[in-house]
Amino acid sequence: MLKRISMLAVAGLTALSLAACGGGGGGTTTAGTGGEGGNDDAIVMGFSQVGAESGWRTANTKSVQESAKEAGITLRFSDAQQRQENQIKAIRSFIQQKVDVIAFSPVVESGWGTVLKEAKDAGIPVILTDRAVDDPDTSLYKTFLGSDFVEEGKKAGQWLVEEYKDATDTVNIVELQGTTGSAPANDRKAGFAEVIGADQKFKVIASQTGDFTRAKGKEVMEAFLKAHPDIDVLYAHNDDMGLGAIEAIEGAGKVPGKDIKIITVDAVKDGMQALADGKINYIVECSPLLGPQLMDLAKKVVAGESVPARVVTEETTFTQEQAKEALPSRQY
Ligand code: AHR
Repeated sequence: MLKRISMLAVAGLTALSLAACGGGGGGTTTAGTGGEGGNDDAIVMGFSQVGAESGWRTANTKSVQESAKEAGITLRFSDAQQRQENQIKAIRSFIQQKVDVIAFSPVVESGWGTVLKEAKDAGIPVILTDRAVDDPDTSLYKTFLGSDFVEEGKKAGQWLVEEYKDATDTVNIVELQGTTGSAPANDRKAGFAEVIGADQKFKVIASQTGDFTRAKGKEVMEAFLKAHPDIDVLYAHNDDMGLGAIEAIEGAGKVPGKDIKIITVDAVKDGMQALADGKINYIVECSPLLGPQLMDLAKKVVAGESVPARVVTEETTFTQEQAKEALPSRQY
């Protein structure tokens, strides 16, 4: 069911959405990314983004916005500034606007049942992108497009096991977790723990959230370094926290990549540069380029076609040598 919206109505709806998002300090709904007003038959997608916490997120937002334009889909984009209440407000606003499809990347896994039921009752299909929800009722959304975060954590653990295969001493690990309660933080922690748990010599001596940001990664790593003079390895759930931690490690007079080995997840340009420079030892890729697949799924869902319940992103891993080769053509 496509809507024909006049420019006047668009202005009214935008005002409505801004009012709905206002006061929470988070969402700013913008209209027209995909050509609002230009094509009355265009599918209208309401997209609630987590925020702008990392290089990965910036690349993901760009991918979604550019792909919407290419696909001729009108995008109503809302930035939740890492707050679930802002995402819930944005989704309710999209329901009021009667968009054709809602896509969102849930900041945390829990607490979505009520608002997803509201979307279902309104007959608006929902696509989860990047992050999952833990609601057992999978009929609340049509599909989930994104990475296998448990697998990413396992890949990080497998590199570590191989790297220290001949070591007999204890390997002291500190972990910078992503946003508390988020799917990537939960799953990357679990996958890593499962793999290293098979060998008693691996000890996670400290594990705390750095909220996926560079600033928090630096701050928490500074605290880790003060409390633990004997850190061998840092496992950061994303590049940005790893990059912040590198500043803390250098500030403490240690050499990142040598005195403390570093594993991160994402493989954004800055992370890949640090890997090529020898400051990071290994990166597990998490692709942010979900836009094209998301738009394809949206078109199918709106047309009432069946889509797979789960679409897993293809990803790889990078050593320092591989990063040097990949950097010149890295898109993000
Ligand atoms: O959900 C994907 C994660 O969110 C990325 O790994 C991280 O950088 C981002 O903030």
